[in-house]
Amino acid sequence: TAMFAWQRTAFHFQPEKNWMNDPDGPLFHMGWYHLFYQYNPDSAVWGNITWGHAVSTDMIHWLYLPLAMVPDRWFDLNGVWTGSATILPDGQIIMLYTGDTNNSVQVQNLAYPANLSDPLLLHWIKYENNPVMVPPAGIASDDFRDPTTMWVGSDGNWRVAVGSLVNTTGIVLVFQTTNFTDFEQLDGVLHGVPGTGMWECVDFYPVSINGLYGLDTSAYGPGIKHVLKASMDDNRHDYYALGEYDPVTDTWTPDDPELDVGIGLRLDYGKYYASKTFYDQVKKRRILYGWISEGDVESDDLKKGWASLQSIPRTVLHDNKTGTHLLLWPIEEVESLRTNSTEFEDVLLEPGSVVPLDIGSASQLDIVAEFEVDNETLEAMVEADVIYNCSTSAGAAGRGALGPFGILVLADDTLSELTPIYFYIAKDTDGSYKTFFCTDLSRSSLAGDDVDQRIYGSLVPVLDDEKPTMRVLVDHSIVESFSQEGRACITTRVYPTEAIYGAARLFLFNNATGVNVTASIKIWEMASADIHPYPLDQQ
Ligand code: FRU
Repeated sequence: TAMFAWQRTAFHFQPEKNWMNDPDGPLFHMGWYHLFYQYNPDSAVWGNITWGHAVSTDMIHWLYLPLAMVPDRWFDLNGVWTGSATILPDGQIIMLYTGDTNNSVQVQNLAYPANLSDPLLLHWIKYENNPVMVPPAGIASDDFRDPTTMWVGSDGNWRVAVGSLVNTTGIVLVFQTTNFTDFEQLDGVLHGVPGTGMWECVDFYPVSINGLYGLDTSAYGPGIKHVLKASMDDNRHDYYALGEYDPVTDTWTPDDPELDVGIGLRLDYGKYYASKTFYDQVKKRRILYGWISEGDVESDDLKKGWASLQSIPRTVLHDNKTGTHLLLWPIEEVESLRTNSTEFEDVLLEPGSVVPLDIGSASQLDIVAEFEVDNETLEAMVEADVIYNCSTSAGAAGRGALGPFGILVLADDTLSELTPIYFYIAKDTDGSYKTFFCTDLSRSSLAGDDVDQRIYGSLVPVLDDEKPTMRVLVDHSIVESFSQEGRACITTRVYPTEAIYGAARLFLFNNATGVNVTASIKIWEMASADIHPYPLDQQ
């Protein structure tokens, strides 16, 4: 039980108790960032889905509010499922969400705040004539869900996208409206990819190619690309692609068909699903939330009395250096939790070395590390092991000429438990280097098969003038890792039994056989965020 108590996070959003899944309808209104979420008020497993609600002034410290919507009408009796907010130019807030009806049909419903001048948006009215969209002909009644934030089309009408499926092709349907109660389906689809299965939680938004700031959802014009993201029900990963939106035909085309949605890039290569962005009109940035589920067994969740977290919100920018990737980075507000820092510069890591870092408490950390690989050795390397793949490799224990090297988090002194986050460089047959960024859970916990033991990661572009760099947020049972300013992210859930409380340590390591690595690392201890119920009775 001490172990379960330690697993609860200190600066990630989670409800006081019970089950949470997708983030819903994030928005900023009258001084508050609002977050709604799929929530079971009765248990630590999925079911009885309502909309939980919390507010924050910085998306780090949170105040829980009463449930925003519960399943109490025929059009959502089996659950108030995922949805998105749209703020109209006149300040009205339109909430579209999926209702699972009394007959288990997925329909889209409209809700709006009872009192727009209430900064807390405590009360929500469900439109009397819901649903406003029902599964169109040819679409199964259980393959039609998760409406996006709306945008304005070329004719001035509002558009909304809804994820669906035809045979095994994941698709995005588009509807238009002028009044938010009558919706008309457009011909064709925004996009679809054969063989990818049902697309949940579609997200569709513009990014500025210059990579400097975020864009409101209806932005369109030169210097803008559109991101299409979908959550693949079949493999439980969030895939995105950059492409061109044609506002006349309401179709979207990926820049690179080989990097299309569902087959190309992922927002995160770890445990990360059902994510959703919103435009923060205060700081002119696009912010991404993601649902981080548990990697343990359901019986442990019931013992803990809770399940799931939200990721630290991430800013989303186009990576103008590669032109192919997004950059996802923890919002700057998380840095307000940084306290004691320790810095180690130019630590030499010889092949096969593990170097302990004396930093005191290691359960709540923000870590920034940069690695330098001895260039002359690199050049001399002939080994060509291109087919490296984090997930099928031997993890941090598998030794190559040029990797793995990185850090060990949530490790105990004897290394009976350890979670390596690392780079592995492979020399391609054409002489170029490929860098992989991985997190290895195979030795994270002595709890064995009860917990996730997979190895996660991907290829990450490291440009000629760059070094391999990582940022890692450790918060008890969650580790969020970012490489190259957020070009590749890996979020994992970790359940040590020994490396907890005062026994948790941090190390640098180099398990390459053929290369010296120099590491520079800065570590901050992180304070806990203030997350508690809003004192409504004292108003
Ligand atoms: C994604 C999802 C959505 C659905 C919701 C139900 O995790 O399955 O498609 O609306 O969760 O809780």
